Amino acid sequence: MAAATQGNTNKQPHPGIDRNNAVIALRGVRKAFGPMEVLKGVDLDVYKSENVVVLGRSGSGKSVLIKIIAGLLRPDEGTVKVLGSEIDSLGTRALQDLRSKIGFSFQNSALYDGMNIRANLEFPLVRNKRSLTRKEIDDAVAQVLDDVGLSQTINQMPSELSGGQKKRIGIARTLILHPEIMLYDEPTAGLDPVTSEEINDLINEVQESYKTSAVIITHDLTCAKSTGDRVIMLAEGNFIRQGSFEEVFDSDDPRVQHFYNYNFITKT
Ligand SMILES: Nc1ncnc2c1ncn2[C@@H]1O[C@H](COP(=O)(O)OP(=O)(O)OP(=O)(O)O)[C@@H](O)[C@H]1O
Ligand SMILES: [Mg+2]
Repeated sequence: MAAATQGNTNKQPHPGIDRNNAVIALRGVRKAFGPMEVLKGVDLDVYKSENVVVLGRSGSGKSVLIKIIAGLLRPDEGTVKVLGSEIDSLGTRALQDLRSKIGFSFQNSALYDGMNIRANLEFPLVRNKRSLTRKEIDDAVAQVLDDVGLSQTINQMPSELSGGQKKRIGIARTLILHPEIMLYDEPTAGLDPVTSEEINDLINEVQESYKTSAVIITHDLTCAKSTGDRVIMLAEGNFIRQGSFEEVFDSDDPRVQHFYNYNFITKT
């Protein structure tokens, strides 16, 4: 993979984005838990090869949104189309098939603590592609570890890795299935600025090498700035702003100002 080049700079929209091809299309999506309305009718298109960042305060519904995209939660109303299929219309088998094309990088990495890194990476592969030979599995594990820069950890246990390394292995575990869509839930949460930057670079490298489209959920402004081809701000159940990072924050809306100031202050 290309060396890390992105750093803490503004991202230029990826040249490969195909605006005629929405790989994710949400229309009028509503979700409530009891009396609490989390999403109040959101529309979202994510285009082929595009990285879309969704920003929002804790509890604003970011994780709910990507769980709905991944088919892990059902909306109360509205439609969710992913890679051309309406999720609600799919049977168990077809949904499983679709899910194997979606890489979900969880907020907490979600590695199996009792398995070494090799076994953690093999797990999704063996479960999803039963016909692979031993050599194909070994090659796939070696390739994906190389892609995330962690070949040396193959025989280590998750508990021996740093937080940043665990995040990378979590991402590698989804990449091993060559997903068309990546969903990153707080990819830089709990990481120091330097390690965060490495993860931001990795997200951009994955977009480039694996040709993924992605939704990146975060409240890390540096992550938004350096990985987002487009940035959306979620507040009070709606998308209140969207555009480039600058366009989103060039606003007098107190919710936007407050979010910027709060995150700026907590990062320094
Ligand atoms: N399965 C569930 N059952 C009941 N309430 C839920 C469920 N999942 C989420 N919620 C509620 O929905 C709201 C939005 O949750 P969500 O996890 O999407 O927030 P978030 O924006 O991801 O926050 P954070 O930045 O802290 O991860 C929260 O108030 C949460 O308690
Ligand atoms: Mg969350």
